[in-house]
Amino acid sequence: MLETLTDPGALRARVADWKRAGLRVALVPTMGNLHAGHFSLVELALRHADRVVASVFVNPTQFGPNEDFARYPRTPEADAAGLEAAGCHALWLPSVETMYPYGVDASVQVRVPGVTGVLEGAHRPGHFDGVATVVARLFNQVQPDVAVFGRKDYQQLAVIRYLVRELSFPLEIAAAPILREPDGLAMSSRNQYLSAAERPLAARIHATLLEMRDGVRAGRPWAQVEADAAERLGAEGFAVDYAAIRRPDLSEPAPADADGAWVALIAARLGRTRLIDNLEFER
Ligand code: PAJ
Repeated sequence: MLETLTDPGALRARVADWKRAGLRVALVPTMGNLHAGHFSLVELALRHADRVVASVFVNPTQFGPNEDFARYPRTPEADAAGLEAAGCHALWLPSVETMYPYGVDASVQVRVPGVTGVLEGAHRPGHFDGVATVVARLFNQVQPDVAVFGRKDYQQLAVIRYLVRELSFPLEIAAAPILREPDGLAMSSRNQYLSAAERPLAARIHATLLEMRDGVRAGRPWAQVEADAAERLGAEGFAVDYAAIRRPDLSEPAPADADGAWVALIAARLGRTRLIDNLEFER
């Protein structure tokens, strides 16, 4: 049975009960409009813990002024039904006032330097500070033993790991693989913004990541692989923010540094929809 909680005191009491009973508690943070990718996080959480809390909160502080905060899809009934079916135990559904009691502008912010200045961070100024701010609040509200995040948001995962180390949150992070549609498009709440004409084209992002991987494996210079990928996507109608080849820590690979682990990352807009995806691979 899924219990929906909107009061921080009730949430804390429930989690304290579980912990007193010796149960391990997992948190799955989301912004709602849940799809199979989110439910796979709940599944992973159930393998790491005895009780799973999913949070649904469309966090205003991580959206830029010209981004889609107002039109971000909100589907609370369907989310609750899906979480119940996935075996989740509690839905943490805070209001903006509960999350930011003194108002968004007066709130204490967590600022994460370094990795937030490149790729997504460079294209969405302040975004990761908003993510870190709300995730720190969620960690304190729920006090989970483990928190589950998806590899779909590769850089977000790096920011969260850094946050946990830096602020000594006493919890583990578990990372879930990217769930994709049959044609390769990474599942995302934003996919529903795509028009019928754009939807098949969106699969080109994953196909391009595979091409980038093959280029690196064939020994082509990574900067050339990046430029070719961006040019191809541009010619197909995407506005490309970046198509990048990086090391797992998001540093630029040294030219001779060919073996080991790599990640290809793309962010591109198709019409009004901004899509991100990535592919981790070994050479
Ligand atoms: P949201 O975009 O709702 O995503 C919630 C979690 O689901 C994230 O960890 C994300 O990486 C994961 N996820 C989304 N699509 C996925 C897919 N196709 N496969 C696997 N995992 C997927 O990310 C956020 O919300 C917010 O930034 C949040 C962390 C909740 C802070 O507000």
